[in-house]
Amino acid sequence: MKSNIVLNKKFAISKIDDRLFGSFIEHLGRAVYGGIFEPGHETADEDGFRQDVLEMVKELQVPVVRYPGGNFVSAYNWEDSIGPVEERPVRLDLAWKSTEPNTVGLNEFAKWAKKADTEVMMAINLGTKGISDARNVVEYCNHPGGSYWSDLRKEHGYEEPHDFKLWCLGNEMDGPWQVGHKSAYEYGRLADEAAKAIKLFDPELELVVCGSSTNQMPTFPEWEREVLEECYDNVDYLSLHIYLKNPENDLETFLASPMGMDDFIDTVTKTCDYVKAKKRSKKTINLSFDEWNVWFHSDEQDQETYKKEPWQVGPPLLEDIYTFEDALVVGGMLNSLIRHSDRVKIGCLAQLVNVIAPIMTENDGTVWKQTIFYPFYYGSRYGRGTALNLQVESPSYDNKTYGSVPYIDATAVCNDEKDELTLFVINRNSKEEMDLEVSLDGFEGYRIVEHALMVHDDIKATNTKDNQNNVVPTEGSGLSVEGGVLKGKLAKLSWNCIRLSK
Ligand code: AHR
Repeated sequence: MKSNIVLNKKFAISKIDDRLFGSFIEHLGRAVYGGIFEPGHETADEDGFRQDVLEMVKELQVPVVRYPGGNFVSAYNWEDSIGPVEERPVRLDLAWKSTEPNTVGLNEFAKWAKKADTEVMMAINLGTKGISDARNVVEYCNHPGGSYWSDLRKEHGYEEPHDFKLWCLGNEMDGPWQVGHKSAYEYGRLADEAAKAIKLFDPELELVVCGSSTNQMPTFPEWEREVLEECYDNVDYLSLHIYLKNPENDLETFLASPMGMDDFIDTVTKTCDYVKAKKRSKKTINLSFDEWNVWFHSDEQDQETYKKEPWQVGPPLLEDIYTFEDALVVGGMLNSLIRHSDRVKIGCLAQLVNVIAPIMTENDGTVWKQTIFYPFYYGSRYGRGTALNLQVESPSYDNKTYGSVPYIDATAVCNDEKDELTLFVINRNSKEEMDLEVSLDGFEGYRIVEHALMVHDDIKATNTKDNQNNVVPTEGSGLSVEGGVLKGKLAKLSWNCIRLSK
């Protein structure tokens, strides 16, 4: 089989916002307690943060981390998480049937984020709380001093404001499971007023309003329309969330499922632009894909945990152990984000540590990289620059859900500052390798500097604490550049990051 790709330096989709490669840490399961924070651990620093985890997080170069939830935030009292640790109340977290000791709160997380070289994307509770709470937390975090909340922060030992720039107006407020779930109109009104108050404090802050929690919700995309009609002028981004699954163990359909993400983004973009037109607005609402991943492996196990022992601190929840095929799908999801980087400006791989995460830890023990770590690592490191508009000619296959699907899924990012061109190419064909030809117009003199290849005989292969390097990228061979054309064979069922430079 043969595929052709035409790429041309002049045909750009968009400059990619670095924040497309963000992630997410929620007070959920062992993300915080036992994940980033474990005071007794042999690598813990003076603040109780695991340095082995920090090092791995830093490898991913995540520019922004969403915090503290997720479903958790919808009944969260941020005030419980500040001040002397011994005086902080212990609360029940209704979203995850867990106990929240509030040992790690917003100041500690800000400290961790600094150590991890990342920014915080702070989510506000618009489930059980409202405008007043929203303005207070922003003032506590961002005002230099001379007001009640900013002086309280100083009293708590944080002289300088945290200066969080990006704020989420609640989480998945369309979801009936959410504490404080609202109708689109109710939420749109509340989001508008909260946004107005925040922008009165600082018009430069960027605000993300909740879109649908998946494109499978019965209210999608009416939710987006109604919400935006209420708050269009005061918000900057609309959120999207998606978790892909393979419940029927159907490889072909699962590999095609990132196409559902393409459709989702296209529909949300059109809905935003419909409201723009209706309002005769000059402003464009961009997208924040602030939860995306594969999530389904741990579902049954989690139900057992809730049944057997609810209300634990840091219970093992959502601990999906990812397979090789999941890594291919995560690679496909990243391609979807890159392809839509003209409108998707923020992305958060959900999540970062232990909870549906690329990084896993053992309490009081080791840390390791899941299979999905690697496509994200390469995407984050080499997907910065300008996304190019590719012409891809590929044979395709039919599957139940997505119709005719090309075997080849490809994106390319050009980084002028570094004179680099990077291609992310997936061969979804499980039976045959693919002959590939890519014409590299505008990249004269470029040669291959790295070909990272993920391929495995066993699609269900995983990395575990005892076998940490079972699924890792290797150096690919068999590709070359001749006369401005990249040529060679792509292994069957493979993810490839092909880096070229002068
Ligand atoms: O990331 C796990 C959960 O998925 C989040 O808490 C919620 O927002 C989503 O449903």
